[in-house]
Amino acid sequence: MKSSTIVLAGLLIAGNGAVLADCDFTIEVDDTMMYPIAEMVADASCETINVTITHTGTLDVKVMGHNWVLAKTDDVQAIAVEGMMTSLESNYLKPDDDRVLASTEMVGGGASETTSASTSFSPSILEEGESYDFFCSFPGHWASMRGKFILK
Ligand code: CO
Repeated sequence: MKSSTIVLAGLLIAGNGAVLADCDFTIEVDDTMMYPIAEMVADASCETINVTITHTGTLDVKVMGHNWVLAKTDDVQAIAVEGMMTSLESNYLKPDDDRVLASTEMVGGGASETTSASTSFSPSILEEGESYDFFCSFPGHWASMRGKFILK
């Protein structure tokens, strides 16, 4: 997994060279069970934080679906395990799960109906000193598709 990230003048430069602005993030995923970034650093002064996930691969959402879910680090495992027992229709998340702080729809590649999805939230929903992760709730993906979400 790529993990080299450099924080420079408020911009996050991912290991693949992609520059992510500190309020607006675009994450490209493909037919692998990986995000291109291991860490996201958002600015606490953002009015809203916007995250878009785009699937550039060829595999259908039913086979290699990905989404972006934000939760407290301590809640990730339970959300993922309980979500696994739901369905693609609910994006493999328990409906109305309060532990899910933000989430996108599940996206897929190829002829999938949804190849790109977004979510927006206010940084004010995050508590200072708490640890947050982002992950993919597709069954079996959360172990490798997971990273740190940091508010600065
Ligand atoms: Co996934």
